[in-house]
Amino acid sequence: MAIPTQILDPVLAAPAGPGPRHVAIIMDGNGRWAQRRGRPRLLGHRAGARRVREIVAACPDLGVEYVTVFAFSTENWKRTQDEVSGLMSLFRRYIQTEADTLLRQGTRVRFIGDRLQLDAKLRALMDMIEALTAHNTRVNLTVALNYGGRDEVARATKRLARDVASGRLDPESITDQTLPRYLDTHVLPDPDLVIRTSGEARISNFLLWQSAYAEYEFVDTLWPDFTRDCFEAILSRYGMRERRYGGVRA
Ligand code: IPE
Ligand code: IPE
Ligand code: MG
Repeated sequence: MAIPTQILDPVLAAPAGPGPRHVAIIMDGNGRWAQRRGRPRLLGHRAGARRVREIVAACPDLGVEYVTVFAFSTENWKRTQDEVSGLMSLFRRYIQTEADTLLRQGTRVRFIGDRLQLDAKLRALMDMIEALTAHNTRVNLTVALNYGGRDEVARATKRLARDVASGRLDPESITDQTLPRYLDTHVLPDPDLVIRTSGEARISNFLLWQSAYAEYEFVDTLWPDFTRDCFEAILSRYGMRERRYGGVRA
């Protein structure tokens, strides 16, 4: 007779711990999703954008206070001009069409990444939605747009060096708590859980400093197929994990 797995595996039998407060998502697989259907990659990006709406809407019920999504990396400029400009116009349209819903849902929107290389119209829309939702507190959506972890650390270091040069910061006072104050994410807690869809098991320059102690989940599902149910299944697995931060089992 088969023995129920719960009896064999003490980890599975453990009571569920608290859920993650901050979930970061590498939304990958849009292009393959479209290509498998014989459609242009941009169609996959559009389908992916709809999933963002569904996942953000689910967060408050699931106890997730912060959700950070990787929308465009500093490396994604290497794609064809058609794909890059299609993505930029999708971001503009997304902000315009979602602004109302996000405001009513109580979502506070923020962006991380280097804005200076983005076009003025997109930057203006980003500023607009950040200001519009600044008083919302139900869920915090952060969109990583023209974001790269190494680029973020380089930009942060530049600001930190300026403060040292001007005498505002004593180099002897620098600890591991100093650099995070200069990162784009300075107002956010570190992610507890990083999810990557589409079967790739790499982090592609996402939240390098912040994810030092995050749990990782790599799932095969392509981002446009990533439903609320997939999200919930991952969150319940997270509850079974024991985070030790270098300590020993309690
Ligand atoms: C992720 O999907 C979205 C962006 C990087 C903008 P991809 O476009 O990378 O999809 P695949 O990996 O080619 O399938
Ligand atoms: C990472 O996906 C960036 C985003 C999801 C925006 P990529 O598809 O660009 O990453 P690589 O090229 O597979 O590492
Ligand atoms: Mg990809």
